[in-house]
Amino acid sequence: MAESGRGGRPRVFVARRIPDEGLELIRAACDLDLWEDELPPPRDELLRRVAGVDGVLTLLTDRVDDAFLDAAGPGLRVVSNYAVGFDNVDVAACARRGIPVGNTPGVLTETTADLAWTLLMAAARRVPEGDRYVRAGAWKTWGPLLLLGPDVHGATIGIVGFGRIGQAVARRARGFGMEILYHDLTPLPAEVTEPLGATYLPLEELLPRSDFVSLHVNLSPQTRHLINAETLAWMRPTAVLVNTSRGPVIDQIALADALDRRTIFAAALDVTDPEPIPMNDRLVGRDDCLIVPHIASASRATRGKMAEMAAANLLAGVHGETLPTEVPPPA
Ligand code: DGY
Repeated sequence: MAESGRGGRPRVFVARRIPDEGLELIRAACDLDLWEDELPPPRDELLRRVAGVDGVLTLLTDRVDDAFLDAAGPGLRVVSNYAVGFDNVDVAACARRGIPVGNTPGVLTETTADLAWTLLMAAARRVPEGDRYVRAGAWKTWGPLLLLGPDVHGATIGIVGFGRIGQAVARRARGFGMEILYHDLTPLPAEVTEPLGATYLPLEELLPRSDFVSLHVNLSPQTRHLINAETLAWMRPTAVLVNTSRGPVIDQIALADALDRRTIFAAALDVTDPEPIPMNDRLVGRDDCLIVPHIASASRATRGKMAEMAAANLLAGVHGETLPTEVPPPA
């Protein structure tokens, strides 16, 4: 193992301040260059700072592609991404150079499902709108028709993408006595779906039957704009669409059109395309579209565990060891 930093310690670049649970492990073992700003490093600065490092810890805001890998140079031994998603990393380009990529699966499953559930409930029961109504001094009396929305309990939920997080949302839906439909590339084994009471359907059958649709797919060429004008038209006029996956899974122009025409009831988004969403986007500022700033995994405990995992991947990589959680290289 060739170690290149001060005192023979591996040199690493960490692209944002992460919780101390991980940062201290890295600091203790490496020659650390930490990007301290709240905003991500600008591209040219990122490429400058990774030059000659042994390892990088990146975030979903940092694009890791051939230009990045060229800038880092032949000594780069690992890309550790501080996220379960890795659509910001060209994993194939890393694999061609023999560079393993790490991510943080598992630890954020329940926290992300909690936020999906929060968004679903809040959009259905119009909680942000009610809060704005009170703050504006508009609350005059109890009203039989005030801020009505759909029931969540006993309704039908369609979960698109039935991996770890989709299944965690299904567990919450069971507690609300909901009918659970799911869609994925293929039906999952009965030992996964039966305890959840989840039924597989093709998307064109799931969407028309669902009162709530919650998206949990990875972003890929196949899932980009999976929710578009055609698929939105399959949804119910009373339906609520929740997205905690990645912004580009929804065609936002088509979503704004659907909300304008009231062909769906509401949307609740943790992720947008781009992020942050421009303030002049048609989805911003409307009562039927709740938007929060990509905070699904943002509990203190979960972000700490993600930091530990990302640090463990980084340290394993710079020492030439197998990463504890490595993104499988493309076949
Ligand atoms: C992820 O990990 O992919 C989330 O989007 C950020 O926590």
